[in-house]
Amino acid sequence: MEQPLFLGLDLSTQGLKALAIDDSLNVEGEYTVNFDSDLPVFETEGGAHRHDDGVTVTAPSVMWVAALDLLLERMKKESFPFERVVAISGSGQQHGSVWLHASARDALAALDAALPLEEQLKDIFTLTESPIWMDCSTKAECKALEDALGGPQEVADRTGSRAYVRFTGNQIAKVSHQQPNVYAKTDRIALVSSFMASLLVGTYAPIDYSDGSGMNILDIRTKDWHTPALDAVGEGLREKMGGSVASHSAVGGIHQYYVDRYGLNPECMVIAFSGDNPNSLAGLRLQSPGDIAISLGTSDTLFGSLSEPKPSGKEGHIFVNPVDPNLYMGMIVHQNGSLTREFVRDACADGSWQRYGELVAESPVGNGGNVGFYIREPEITPTITQTGTYRFDADGRAVDAFDAPTETRALLESQFLSLRVHADSLGLTPRTIYATGGASVDKAVIRIIADVFGTAVYTGEQPNSGSLGAAYRALHGYRCSLSDDFVSFADAISGGSPFKKAAEPDMDAHAVYNAMLEKFTQLEDRIAD
Ligand code: XUL
Repeated sequence: MEQPLFLGLDLSTQGLKALAIDDSLNVEGEYTVNFDSDLPVFETEGGAHRHDDGVTVTAPSVMWVAALDLLLERMKKESFPFERVVAISGSGQQHGSVWLHASARDALAALDAALPLEEQLKDIFTLTESPIWMDCSTKAECKALEDALGGPQEVADRTGSRAYVRFTGNQIAKVSHQQPNVYAKTDRIALVSSFMASLLVGTYAPIDYSDGSGMNILDIRTKDWHTPALDAVGEGLREKMGGSVASHSAVGGIHQYYVDRYGLNPECMVIAFSGDNPNSLAGLRLQSPGDIAISLGTSDTLFGSLSEPKPSGKEGHIFVNPVDPNLYMGMIVHQNGSLTREFVRDACADGSWQRYGELVAESPVGNGGNVGFYIREPEITPTITQTGTYRFDADGRAVDAFDAPTETRALLESQFLSLRVHADSLGLTPRTIYATGGASVDKAVIRIIADVFGTAVYTGEQPNSGSLGAAYRALHGYRCSLSDDFVSFADAISGGSPFKKAAEPDMDAHAVYNAMLEKFTQLEDRIAD
């Protein structure tokens, strides 16, 4: 056979992608389906349905089924060499749940290559609309879970995060309380990731530990469901969840449907699917504790591997690591990322990043003690519900305005000081930072990151880190499976890195930031909920 291929699928909020690599990690092809434009009958916006109550957000589960056929058809039309694929893994938007009726078991097993998946699977759902990560309708359920387990820190100590509205356990609790009939009729609750794997293997695929950590019901240390959390969420939930497995596990062989309809290799194995953030960690190859990614997008996320979990009852998430089940990964999400940077740029620098950088340079490192918080959207880390701009002078007095150099510097310093403070509280101490996303090309941003954290910053574009990570994990799982033992991710995935050093820290500047931390934290505490 020609060189084998490893396929990564990525079902994100907006679409489904596939990316194939060979065993030397060369990318062999990328394919995409966009939910809104390619599957308009589902009438989604950005892949989702936002409900009138302003807090409920769902996506039609069967749309994801239709998307899989459409994607594979496109690949077939472009003569993608399906027969060379020896392993498939995948990435799914985290936290979303898929609700399956008992008839799903037979329907999945009996898939007939003469008919599209949608036609055969449209009636297997007990809820036709999957609650997804953008949903925030479960405040009451979060409170109930924290009360049942003894408070937010206890929930975090067990499950890796305090109760979060989007986390699947709280979403399940809402259905079990508000729609007991739907809950009772449900045979299996899958995550988006395990559901997509189930479609490929033609049977219920288990949830992997890493994506399972985004549910508030998995014990991140024992890797088993946490019984008191299950009991708080719904009766008989353990049976509805099925088992859980390490993310590198093979969960089955490809169903004959895909062999007959698309020409997939009948020997192709399916490696457990995982969440998008865990897959990004794999895609960026953050293998050692101390390797930290900062992804600068609409929201900024910081994540990296950890050897010891140190969950916080206040903020952030600890997941089981997707490339080594004995490690963990920590993640912080900052809601006010690029849109907030653009807002200040437009207000102070005529919409020009170059001008923005010149203004930042006019104010000294540490901004003469001036600190600002720019909360355009309610902030997740720390929780700040009241939007607005909060400015403080060197004596900690609230002030109404800063001049442009102070304002532009204040925004960047506070964004990255805050990320440092909250990453630190999860035990994420960077040795090396990999910056990705739009703003990572901006020199002022990279300089401040290097100085705030006191580490070198590497940059490089790794678009599609979710599907690439899934392809890497397919290769990793395949190697583990062939050797009947755990092979380290670094041994399975070795080769040149796309990242280049962009900045070394200035240790004098770093000392200025170290000295600011205490006052910064006090001011942030003043505006947090
Ligand atoms: C992570 C989160 C999102 C989703 C969709 O906790 O809610 O990043 O995974 O990307």
